[in-house]
Amino acid sequence: MITLSNQKVLDFVSKEAIEALKPQVEAGLRALEEGTGAGNDFIGWLHLPSSIQADFLADIEQTACTFRNECDVVVVCGIGGSYLGARAVIEALNSNFQAYETTGGPAIVYAGHNISEDYLFELTTLLRGKRFGIINISKSGTTTETALAFRLLKKQCEDQRGIDVARRVIVCITDAVRGAARTLATQEGYKTYVIPDNVGGRFSVLTPVGLLPIAIAGYDIRALVAGAVEMERATAPSVPFAENIAAQYAATRNALYAAGKKIEILVNFQPKLHYVSEWWKQLYGESEGKDHKGIFPASVDFSTDLHSMGQWIQEGERTIFETVISVDKTRHSLIVPADEQNLDGLNYLAGRHVDEVNKMAELGTQMAHVDGGVPNLRIVMPELSERYLGQLLYFFEKACGVSGYVLGVNPFNQPGVEAYKKNMFSLLGKPGYEKIEVKG
Ligand code: PA5
Repeated sequence: MITLSNQKVLDFVSKEAIEALKPQVEAGLRALEEGTGAGNDFIGWLHLPSSIQADFLADIEQTACTFRNECDVVVVCGIGGSYLGARAVIEALNSNFQAYETTGGPAIVYAGHNISEDYLFELTTLLRGKRFGIINISKSGTTTETALAFRLLKKQCEDQRGIDVARRVIVCITDAVRGAARTLATQEGYKTYVIPDNVGGRFSVLTPVGLLPIAIAGYDIRALVAGAVEMERATAPSVPFAENIAAQYAATRNALYAAGKKIEILVNFQPKLHYVSEWWKQLYGESEGKDHKGIFPASVDFSTDLHSMGQWIQEGERTIFETVISVDKTRHSLIVPADEQNLDGLNYLAGRHVDEVNKMAELGTQMAHVDGGVPNLRIVMPELSERYLGQLLYFFEKACGVSGYVLGVNPFNQPGVEAYKKNMFSLLGKPGYEKIEVKG
């Protein structure tokens, strides 16, 4: 199992301060379980892993097979919770250089998560002449970024591949009955998957939203779900506070927040985890940042960012803490070679694994940051695999729900996200939106 250590925060908040939150954390766990907390109509993710049926996974694998046979490129079209979970898992498992590799299944590219004309132009240019398919993911079915990209891609797919093939290689993942994406899918006869009503976007990675793209990329969704099931059990309300890692994480970060640590930086030492951090930022940012409260979730990729953000973290304002995801075992083995001239002075490392250097960078960084006043939580993953990623995703989801309740917010809504949309629609003259004046 993945583990969590909060030993390196104890110079900053006492064991007693963390323990003092036990009643609130346990109440949070119970509120989730009993469905009595705020936003209780969005807790369908809670027992999702253990309720997934084998035939449901088989159906997803079957669809993935169609995409793998009929496409060289698959575009995952979605934004926020409708794409970050899939990207987090796929990139964590892919080769760092997947974009340059020609073997294996279809290349996965992403769209519908920005409104950049250059991005969409370059994507449609890249897809020209290629056998591509699209997974259109939108719970509401009305998100502008996603709808705009899908409109362009659908037309290109039909023009390039013909209506009949397009109907086989376009799948919609959306609400069961509502929204434009549902209407369109019904009209066109696309294969569809449902995002359950009671699962919000950022908690949807273990629904078809995440599972289908991950399966298309060639990864084992059964192992991913099995890992999540293990974590569902390990974080159940019946698991004692001291052994329940979701409870420990929720308590520790809330104790740190109360002690003035307003920013949490998720740290990795494996570039493949970059999108896990992006997914985590959305999960915690949208869940906790409300009512003028909430830890600000930030992230860095080390050791890369030690050469950019390292100075700030070491000596900037002391309002931060770090949560490091450490991966125990690398997938590959690479030894530092000896060099006769030793001009770079690296012969003291000759014969040792590159990962040993990385691990010492990790340890040295932890020591320096703790000495510099930065509390440090540490999550250890035995290796980067579907099983441990499943554990990690569910762990963060569960801890997020509990943490939000301890903070006193509804972790399952996102009312603030509407503000920019309203202004954008007014400025663009969307029917039904009153014209607004631009000040200044
Ligand atoms: O977590 C959320 O609910 C959001 O981030 C949504 O996932 C995101 O806004 C996309 O919404 P939709 O799936 O309706 O297009």
